[in-house]
Amino acid sequence: MKRYHTALTLLGASLATGLGVAAYAAETTSETQEMPYQGLVELGYPAPQEGELVHVPPTMDDLEEADIHPQLKRVIRRGYDLFTNTQQLRGKNVFNDMNCSSCHLGEGRQPFSAPIWPAAVTLPDFRGKNQHVNNLEERIAGCFAYSMNGTPPEYGSDDMLALSAYHQWLATGVPMYPGQPIYGRGFPAPPEPELEPDYTRGEAAYRENCAICHGEDGSGHYEDGDYVFPALWGDGSNNWGAGIARTHTAAGFIQNNMPLGQPNSLSDQQAWDIAYYMVSQERPQDPRYTGDVDETLELFGPTFHRHSRYGEVREHDNHRLADHANTGEKDFLKPWNVGVSRFEELSE
Ligand code: HEC
Ligand code: HEC
Repeated sequence: MKRYHTALTLLGASLATGLGVAAYAAETTSETQEMPYQGLVELGYPAPQEGELVHVPPTMDDLEEADIHPQLKRVIRRGYDLFTNTQQLRGKNVFNDMNCSSCHLGEGRQPFSAPIWPAAVTLPDFRGKNQHVNNLEERIAGCFAYSMNGTPPEYGSDDMLALSAYHQWLATGVPMYPGQPIYGRGFPAPPEPELEPDYTRGEAAYRENCAICHGEDGSGHYEDGDYVFPALWGDGSNNWGAGIARTHTAAGFIQNNMPLGQPNSLSDQQAWDIAYYMVSQERPQDPRYTGDVDETLELFGPTFHRHSRYGEVREHDNHRLADHANTGEKDFLKPWNVGVSRFEELSE
């Protein structure tokens, strides 16, 4: 985090910090209330709708004050540290340039940036992506396998427990299975644009709005060997099975969060065009790959890849996307948690 702040100040875009302050300065209670998010409305985000659950998660400062066992505090701090500096697991669980907080901005707390606490109160539940009931650990493991192009810490391990504890603690005070929509959950996509998303327009808008930080070639930005801005495609990025490789999720992420410090500044058309350009680039293979793109599409098209460009032929150079066996930095395709069926004996 600190490194980004330096870089951002250099670029004159320190709003990331500003946003945090605006959104989280208010006293934290988990009751339905509008005021804590007033700052977000001023930044162009929608106001909470009638019936939505609004929750302001506690901060690391709140943790210091919290009346919980000091050992639990230590474990939550460890979870926070793993979430914001996941690179400490590089080569073990993480095989790209990402931290969890590269996509879940505001340390996993920020609305419209897929805040992570909803998972702690809505799981266990059925998940379409793997067609069975998942708990919180399995959901976290999913982001390791796809978004981090890695392999998760074992269920029940210290690292997994620490990460879970951080997620659950952020949900402090929210009822389990709240049964109502959650304000700011996920990366809501902008409305369908007037024109079909377009590669060439997306490329131009990318160069203008994004390349300064993420590089013309999408590989991110390093300073003195230190990673400053994450890679949007290529080996340093998430693989083809990651949620953000789908056009609508990418458009939602981009409009709500990018350029960093200027959320909601892109039009719906620009957000879709840039997303389309970004998801038309190569990245490491989906761990569910069977060795054949058509077969993989047949298996995972209906539940996932109908929203991505997996297997499509790119218009300007006839390149067939994802038709390769490149697994990026890791020397294996499939992490241990992918393709594991559960509760088969309960079928029907
Ligand atoms: C490359 C981007 C990216 C990275 C990096 C990433 N995630 Fe995610 N994460 C997503 C996307 C996309 C979703 C799905 C959001 C949606 O449903 O719209 C998601 C969803 C989640 C959810 C479920 C939230 C909910 O509303 O139920 C949790 C929990 C989560 N991620 C945890 C993690 C953890 C832990 C890490 C690091 C190990 C991580 N993520 C890294 C992109 C990412
Ligand atoms: C001022 C620098 C800056 C600009 C400009 C910027 N980003 Fe980012 N972007 C970041 C940083 C920093 C992160 C990671 C956030 C963190 O770690 O706190 C990020 C994260 C991301 C991510 C999620 C992580 C990943 O690598 O996939 C995507 C996608 C993304 N940006 C896309 C874009 C797009 C598209 C644009 C142009 C519309 C853009 N960004 C403009 C700095 C920037």
